[in-house]
Amino acid sequence: MRELLLLNGPNLGILGTRQPEIYGTRTLADIEKSVAEEVSGRGWTVRAVQRESEGELIHAVQDAYDTVGAIVNPGALMIAGWSLRDALANYPRPFVEVHLSNVWARESFRHESVLAPLASGVVVGLGALGYRLAARALLELAGPDI
Ligand code: DQA
Repeated sequence: MRELLLLNGPNLGILGTRQPEIYGTRTLADIEKSVAEEVSGRGWTVRAVQRESEGELIHAVQDAYDTVGAIVNPGALMIAGWSLRDALANYPRPFVEVHLSNVWARESFRHESVLAPLASGVVVGLGALGYRLAARALLELAGPDI
């Protein structure tokens, strides 16, 4: 079975009630469902992992070398998640970084991502739709045979 890794970092498990004016009202379960819908036509399923700590996210990446690609919203670990970056450097498949909010329209400490240079692409500011678009991109990047 081909699986897509959907990895969400700290504070993203409370989407829906977390600062909805910034992050919207869709829950993480809603997002996981929409990504699963997006890739189901190809026969892919979604391995959804959300963790509050960087170490657990690293374990999830290390356990996912058999997945076809990854969508990663690192939350605030975008700013200084160097260990998560190193883990993703060894991830063998393409990944797309997603941020619900437009991080460049916010505080300056959110303007750099240590992960972004490794990503195939970055989607920011489109809310929950961004995850779906990232899934679509990974379908394309994987090519027709995967
Ligand atoms: C976020 C943006 C980050 O700056 C923030 O720390 C988050 C959420 C987003 O999806 O917009 O936790 O990754």
